[in-house]
Amino acid sequence: MPKHQRIAVYPGSFDPITNGHLDIIARASRLFDRIIVAVSKNPSKTPTFTFPERTRMITMTLKKLRLGKSVSVDYFEGLLVSYCRRVRACAVVRGLRAVSDFEYEFQMALMNRRLAKDVETVFLMPDERYVYLSSSLVKEVARLGGDLKAFVPPGVKAEIDSKKKQFERT
Ligand code: PNS
Repeated sequence: MPKHQRIAVYPGSFDPITNGHLDIIARASRLFDRIIVAVSKNPSKTPTFTFPERTRMITMTLKKLRLGKSVSVDYFEGLLVSYCRRVRACAVVRGLRAVSDFEYEFQMALMNRRLAKDVETVFLMPDERYVYLSSSLVKEVARLGGDLKAFVPPGVKAEIDSKKKQFERT
């Protein structure tokens, strides 16, 4: 790997990945040489999709988008900044949709900066079509029988359909 490569980590639960996440990945891939989509293996919330399911959905989706080798999928456990250092990332990418995201994101970014001042957090705004979109809303719409076509890639929609019953418990 060339020394000057600028690597960014895009961390998250991705439970499941949505078109909003993909929009952020595409934007980040224009700013950095490499993006690592890092799935949190131990999210604080109990995920609907298992870790292998979440990872598989991301891998399958990225393959279809043909973003090339500049975007890869990995996972992390423990502190995000330790993972960033291990993969030599200079930045963490997070999507900022609305003011409601701000407080949590601000806290997280400042804590991460305190823990590792060499890792910068970069916030990217998604396309207006996705500002209201979240994985939890996608699951709620699925549970209530709504059309998911505009919110998730086709492969993810199929995966959600096969798991619909479980949403009633989340
Ligand atoms: O998609 P999410 O659920 O908003 O992602 C949150 C995530 C996984 C990025 C965040 O919980 C995280 O970074 N967890 C790792 C634990 C950590 O590093 N904590 C200290 C800094 S806040």
